[in-house]
Amino acid sequence: MRPIALLALATTALSAVLPWQSTADIDETQLPLVIWHGLGDDFEREGLKEVASLAESVNPGTYVHLIRLADDSSGDRSATFIGNVTEQISLVCDQLAADPILRTAPAINALGFSQGGQFLRGYIERCNSPPVHNLVTFGSQHNGISEFESCASTDWVCRGAEALLRSGRWTSFAQSRVVPAQYFRDPTELDLYLEKSNFLADINNERAVKNETYKKNLASLNRFVMYMFEDDTVAVPKESAFFSEVDPTTGEVTPLHERPIYKEDWLGLKQLGEKGKLEFITIPGQHMQISAKILQEAFTKYFGPLEESALSLQGLVVQRGL
Ligand SMILES: *[C@@H]1O[C@H](CO)[C@@H](O)[C@H](O)[C@H]1NC(C)=O
Ligand SMILES: *[C@@H]1O[C@H](CO)[C@@H](O)[C@H](O)[C@H]1NC(C)=O
Repeated sequence: MRPIALLALATTALSAVLPWQSTADIDETQLPLVIWHGLGDDFEREGLKEVASLAESVNPGTYVHLIRLADDSSGDRSATFIGNVTEQISLVCDQLAADPILRTAPAINALGFSQGGQFLRGYIERCNSPPVHNLVTFGSQHNGISEFESCASTDWVCRGAEALLRSGRWTSFAQSRVVPAQYFRDPTELDLYLEKSNFLADINNERAVKNETYKKNLASLNRFVMYMFEDDTVAVPKESAFFSEVDPTTGEVTPLHERPIYKEDWLGLKQLGEKGKLEFITIPGQHMQISAKILQEAFTKYFGPLEESALSLQGLVVQRGL
């Protein structure tokens, strides 16, 4: 499918652009970083390792944890297609809470690629222990997908999932086992979605009964940064990366701040927006084709060291450079 592809990675040039890299500042804390990869990827993929080493070289001392749903790469990759997302998130809650470094950190930063972005949001809303300071997502489907991606003809796991999705997306079989079905959201069949969706309708607090914990946890973020790929034809609609709703017939886009989820603040997004803590960034390129330069800028801006004094006050305030 679409593993992350880093374009023009040039780590050797990094030291030239990072003025503080040579000064070891003892008054600062470098938060760990957790990364949740996307559909079809696995924790041993080269592209992902490059991202991890980029994070370490931009902010020296960063402990990076790549989230995995199995101990081997093929199991981890299968879990991006097959599984119950509720169970997967709960496994990740246990994984992060058990890691000796993450669990003793005052907070962590989180980076989600594609579906990994909405799943990290699920982690924050449901568990958030250790708590997330800044959440950055690239090409994520925060408002779901209204079409399923076509698979390469040789990719049997993907093709199996795809066949299930087309015919039986609202069956309990698909909703408990086929990962993308659990964030499928077509505005023309909202009733079925609200009734059947195993993941997205719940995590977006779209049902009549709202979960106050979800709202409180998401509103506790210091930053929620959403990147959208301008030329994305893989995740449909691409504007889902910004939490926008797109009418599949007319193509009309309703931005987040005009939707009830924001106006009635079902999720704490309005609280974040009013404090200037939501960012929407459009970048060129196809789904998950990220330039090293863009990642480098994001890591500098959102995952840099925090002042110790800020941390000890009452959890986490000042992000350097913001
Ligand atoms: C809200 O979510 C929390 C965290 O997942 C859960 O413990 C709680 O039972 C949920 N509350 C309701 C009313 O569903
Ligand atoms: C997914 O797993 C959760 C937790 O085990 C379970 O409560 C839920 O019913 C499952 N979802 C479906 C659609 O089977």
